[in-house]
Amino acid sequence: MSQKSKSSKAAKSKPKSAAKAAAKPAKPAAKAGKSAKAAKKVPAESRVFAPSAEFVKSSRIQSLDQYRRMHAQSLKDPEKFFGREAAELQWRKPYRRVLDWKCPDAKWFVGGQLNVSENCLDRHLAGPRRNKAALIWEGEPGEKRVLTYQQLHREVCRFANVLKRHKVKKGDRVVIYMPMVPEAAVAMLACTRIGAMHSVIFGGFSAESIKDRVLDCDAAVIITSDGGYRRGAVVPLKKNVDDALKGGETKVRSVIVLKRTGQEVHMEEGRDVWWHRELEYVDAVCPAVAMDSEAPLFILYTSGSTGKPKGILHTTAGYLLHAQMTCKYVFDLREEDVYWCTADVGWVTGHSYLVYGPLALGATSLMYEGAPNWPENDRFWRIIEDYGVTVFYTAPTAIRAFMKWGDEWLTKHDLSSLRLLGTVGEPINPEAWMWYHRLVGGSRCPIVDTWWQTETGGHMITPIPGAVPTKPGSATLPFFGVDAAVVDDLGKEVGKDEQGKLVIRKPWPSMLRGIWGDKDRYQKTYWSDFKGWYFAGDGARRDKDGYFWIIGRIDDVLNVAGHRLGTAEVESALVSHPAVAESAVVGRPDELKGQGVVCFVTVKEGVKTSKELADELKRHVRKVIGPVATPDEVRFAAALPKTRSGKIMRRLLKQIASGEALKGDTTTLEDVNVVAALAAASAED
Ligand code: WT7
Repeated sequence: MSQKSKSSKAAKSKPKSAAKAAAKPAKPAAKAGKSAKAAKKVPAESRVFAPSAEFVKSSRIQSLDQYRRMHAQSLKDPEKFFGREAAELQWRKPYRRVLDWKCPDAKWFVGGQLNVSENCLDRHLAGPRRNKAALIWEGEPGEKRVLTYQQLHREVCRFANVLKRHKVKKGDRVVIYMPMVPEAAVAMLACTRIGAMHSVIFGGFSAESIKDRVLDCDAAVIITSDGGYRRGAVVPLKKNVDDALKGGETKVRSVIVLKRTGQEVHMEEGRDVWWHRELEYVDAVCPAVAMDSEAPLFILYTSGSTGKPKGILHTTAGYLLHAQMTCKYVFDLREEDVYWCTADVGWVTGHSYLVYGPLALGATSLMYEGAPNWPENDRFWRIIEDYGVTVFYTAPTAIRAFMKWGDEWLTKHDLSSLRLLGTVGEPINPEAWMWYHRLVGGSRCPIVDTWWQTETGGHMITPIPGAVPTKPGSATLPFFGVDAAVVDDLGKEVGKDEQGKLVIRKPWPSMLRGIWGDKDRYQKTYWSDFKGWYFAGDGARRDKDGYFWIIGRIDDVLNVAGHRLGTAEVESALVSHPAVAESAVVGRPDELKGQGVVCFVTVKEGVKTSKELADELKRHVRKVIGPVATPDEVRFAAALPKTRSGKIMRRLLKQIASGEALKGDTTTLEDVNVVAALAAASAED
């Protein structure tokens, strides 16, 4: 990828302004998670990078014009566009109609039937892919495993039979709480094979979080492991499951435990069984069940603006199609690629881009169990060199950590196998983008900055490499079928470079179909700000070339190291501690994590505040929600700033948390002294 490359077709068709591209100083890393208002003042990033002639030559889509034509067609005639793409899936029964849409209910590929595991495995067995690596795995301690498509198919069939032995049926919910090992993918695919729904819970969630989710989706079976490795330590996964099930409130009847670390674990008689022992009872023949296009596929919990996480529901055909299509067009995956997505299976990125998308496409997906800095800071670069990784997908927060650790960790490795890079999870600040481009991509790899969400199932706004010139920090243009716009509160498109709300004005195949068990919340959260349009909480602006610049969440959701965290969840964890009277949680810009978690706490009458109590409250939040939610700071306050109607004024707290001068209207404040006291207290820190 070369800056202002004149030789490529894409360069010729790129926006006119691109020709004037000048390297301006980029905005500082700390701005990444900043509020919309602050972002407005940052000088616009004006560098443009056109794909190299070499990349364009072998691209599926070779120019901006071609992308624009295809995008326009996908919006004008989704039937035709998606009909053509859907022919690349293996159907058991053809669908009758591409789309039924009655807001907020979408049905894609109506009347069709297919099976996800069959699409990800069986259909690749007929030809040479049979012996191709489906999963390449490396454990944190260093073990290496390769599962070919044939081997993965066999493991999935066997484990699906184990699930059947445990009476798992079509439509049942199975919770998966596992480390990053191939068996996590096996478990997911086995569920899809027999039509059960999975709900994967990230290993960084606590026992209480597991319990809440198990109760919410009413799961009868949990698949876990004794433990997992993380930065040299052992994570007590089975113990967390035991604690979650302690009170006997759930309906869990079977816990299937994979032996990973070999650590001592309690096995509850009549409930807990070992994965390897179960396999002794089953054979490797398990027909895949034909599922309706709209059959529920999985539930994945994510944070919203209330204390209760939302069980995002995805269904079969549309989800799979979008995952496969984006792997094809956005990651440009080819037969010979070694593709590595560093996300955990516990997040949607791990679902769509570690497991379903790449396997549906018959690609080779690399999975690494552990931390990027174990045993040393160059683990990722070592892996890229060892396996000749060609396409690499990671998060801005990781990139910023690599930058901080120093270039020498990567310059000693040969990264020349890489041909395409991707990022996801939060806005990437231009310096991090440039570092990624130069140091990791050797200035030759296109970068796809992919904006999407748990709810969207797959990429929504992203460059198509080879066709769309990139700008550091911009997710560029919408994917096929995605009608994205930036609007004001009345739904009117805002002017160029103005900030507004990011909406999607048409249904797309992999959109969420609901929130598990809460139809009302689904309608209210996503479809009621603007009639008939989807709004999921991000602010954005578009530049003169129509490029999207995502500013970040404008609701009460934080993005901490690429993970979503509801401020209300942390607040409710805090007030569950006996010392706490009231709390308000806000984000503040953090150089590495994008946002850090700052908790303002008032204590109950008679409780003495101290550093020890602050530490205890941090530990308490960790215990209640999980290590993912560990607060960066707990600040005690005599009172919280409130409006006369009793609403906490978060805007002020955000300013105080980030040490900014207080601005804006405070006339609605109930007690002005509260703010003065808070600001004074923070100045003393
Ligand atoms: C939120 C969704 C999508 C998988 C990982 C996160 C933010 C995500 C980008 C990006 C700017 C981004 C948004 C979004 N986000 N990707 N490329 N540029 N912001 O999934 O946990 O559902 O979080 O992550 O704020 O709303 P998630």
